[in-house]
Amino acid sequence: MSTHHNIRRVTTKVLQAMKEKQEKIAMITAYDYSMARLIDESNMDVILVGDSASNVMAGHESTLPITLDQMIYHASSVTRAVNRALVVVDMPFGTYQGNSRLALESAIRIMKETGAGAIKLEGGSEVKESVTRILSAGIPIMGHLGLTPQSIHKFGTYVVRATEEEEAEKLIEDAHLLEDLGCFAIVLEKIPSELAAQVAREIKIPIIGIGAGHQVDGQVLVLHDMLGITQEFSPRFLRRYHNLSDEIKNAVGNYISDVKAVEFPNENEQYY
Ligand code: KIV
Repeated sequence: MSTHHNIRRVTTKVLQAMKEKQEKIAMITAYDYSMARLIDESNMDVILVGDSASNVMAGHESTLPITLDQMIYHASSVTRAVNRALVVVDMPFGTYQGNSRLALESAIRIMKETGAGAIKLEGGSEVKESVTRILSAGIPIMGHLGLTPQSIHKFGTYVVRATEEEEAEKLIEDAHLLEDLGCFAIVLEKIPSELAAQVAREIKIPIIGIGAGHQVDGQVLVLHDMLGITQEFSPRFLRRYHNLSDEIKNAVGNYISDVKAVEFPNENEQYY
């Protein structure tokens, strides 16, 4: 029996009910045990082990280099901390595109080795077979449309997506496709707010926005961005809730000064 039987876990069904009650869904990324624990204790609905770990954890310029093994390491650290939130894990680049058998194998590894509740993958009609196959194994999928960072080399830029009619129509079609296939939610990244609002109205499953305005069913941000740990990344959609980089640098700077001045440790901070 679970030792946490008094905590009601967030499931895909709970998220669907939230959309129906027009209760907004809060989602944030996490990649390690300690942060995930603080976030879960704050009553977050969904924790995404994003492949943004490639940027904020590993220092790569894009999300492309991170591997399945590395995502599994991050995700299993997160699930060890989480009692309440739904944990969703990004499938990294190269583990699901163009090969639905590989996609299923990758998704099964994530579910088996991390204890997460769902996976997320990028794209619409291009990944239809992979989506179908993963869903057939009973693994819940969150879709991701609009600015899909694993395709950055196709886009060539991180500017707002789907501002033109043709791309907007494809996005709406893809959202319907993902819903019809059986995905439980969709992330819409960096698209015009009116387009996101239309998708959230037309589609019955929860639509989570990042840079997609407020007329959607929930919001997601990258933890290190909203805490102000990352300093160089400042898109319009990013609200910084803290300036943690200054606080960390101050604290570390004070420690360095104390060590140099032999003010740390003091008499009460040593053993006799
Ligand atoms: O990798 C990530 O953190 C994401 C979110 C920005 C949605 O996909």
